Amino acid sequence: MTSEILDKKGEGVELAGWIDSRRDHGKIIFFDLRDRAGLVQLVLAPSSGAAYELAETLRPEWVVKIKGEVRNRPNGTENPNLTTGQLEVAVKEIEVLSKSEALPFPIGGDGYEIDEEIRMKHRYLDLRRARLQKNIRHRHLITKYMRDYLSQQGFAEVETPILSKSTPEGARDYLVPSRLYAGKFYALPQSPQQYKQLLMVAGMERYFQITRCFRDEDTRGDRQPEFTQLDIEMSFVDEEDVTGLIEELYLNLVRELYPNKKLRLDESGRIPRMSYDEAMSKYGSDKPDVRDNKDDPDELAFLFVTDFPMFEWKETEKRWDAVHHPFTRPKVKDAAEFWEKFKSDPASIKAKQYDFVLNGYEIGGGSIRTHDAELLAAVFEAMGNKPEDVKAKFGHLLQAFSYGVPPHGGIAPGVDRFVMIVENEPNIREVIAFPKTGDGRDPMMEAPSEVGPGQLDELHLAIKKEG
Ligand code: AMO
Repeated sequence: MTSEILDKKGEGVELAGWIDSRRDHGKIIFFDLRDRAGLVQLVLAPSSGAAYELAETLRPEWVVKIKGEVRNRPNGTENPNLTTGQLEVAVKEIEVLSKSEALPFPIGGDGYEIDEEIRMKHRYLDLRRARLQKNIRHRHLITKYMRDYLSQQGFAEVETPILSKSTPEGARDYLVPSRLYAGKFYALPQSPQQYKQLLMVAGMERYFQITRCFRDEDTRGDRQPEFTQLDIEMSFVDEEDVTGLIEELYLNLVRELYPNKKLRLDESGRIPRMSYDEAMSKYGSDKPDVRDNKDDPDELAFLFVTDFPMFEWKETEKRWDAVHHPFTRPKVKDAAEFWEKFKSDPASIKAKQYDFVLNGYEIGGGSIRTHDAELLAAVFEAMGNKPEDVKAKFGHLLQAFSYGVPPHGGIAPGVDRFVMIVENEPNIREVIAFPKTGDGRDPMMEAPSEVGPGQLDELHLAIKKEG
């Protein structure tokens, strides 16, 4: 690896990587060789014989293996911008491992100016640029920190199904037709919400999962059809236990991985909490940007917004819908008090819901759940479900809650949005290795794509001709 030359002055090394750039000075040929650790300068003079002749044919992005000797660069030619900038490798042997065509776009710069369609079509090349290498590697450090931190706090990571049944998170489902059961469909999870609650019934007590969620909604800068959540659920907790854990995790993470960021905290050094009503009346938003200076790219203003209303009126469907999701606990004693309040003033019922906000983005949402089966059934009914529909859609959960359910709650911070903000990127596509375009396509794989009649037949499907 290029970084190992730092300890190998005067010694022989063997390196493999890509030809990043080439410069000729008179008869001397210079290359930058690139690998996962960075760049190192290679030098060849005519006295290198066969290696020199081969070097004359090398082009950018060819993959080579070289042998040579590490030495100091001549005085005045050091490059302070490179970690290996004091040194170079005098090459003795070169082996070409593979050649490269000229690339469809330059990868030397940060690439924002290049048409995104072309970048996505050759995403594997786009990912070679230093900015994206950094983003993807930092993303790894962030998720690793989360995993390690939660593991130390007694959480177990549990995988939950991708082929599942619709869970109401407010978006459209992606459906997967069943081959074995004609006319039936799996739904891809909008989140593992019900599974994580069932894991609490199962006695896991502290669950997390860095998991993919799928929502068929219009893509935006901070929204992708598939995205990643740090999904968390805990038993025997109230709101402050969950927000307190997230607070510790994120403050520690930022201090360790992003020590140069300026954290905006309250007088006692904590992430401020603000009620939904205060956020709306002061800022007109439930995810206010409370930075002192919005031009400072390194300021991080976390905020918990609490005490959301439980319901909002959905004019299109003429019914009350849950602001977060129906599993959220309304701030009432029991089903009787719930009905009393719901019948007189549904909008006044508050919920044990908290949103996690950073610099004006919603980077997480969660709640304490209703574990009282009677109250939960009442909430489903209040949202317009007939009692028989409640049984059909949520019977499994209500039944599970009849076998000794611990009080529980959780949260799901979105990983992509957080990485976008700490890496100062304008959208989450810049921090996802293989994202979809703004209009939901993958130009590299050409997805979505048509499938042949045989596959459709097997799935008992026929395509309706439009128009
Ligand atoms: P919610 O629906 O609020 O809660 O989602 C949690 C967080 O996930 C992120 N997010 C997204 N990120 C990128 N693209 C998207 N399309 C997208 N949709 C959501 C946001 C959001 O705050 N099951 C509950 C959590 C819980 O109650 O524990 C849930 O999914 O950062």
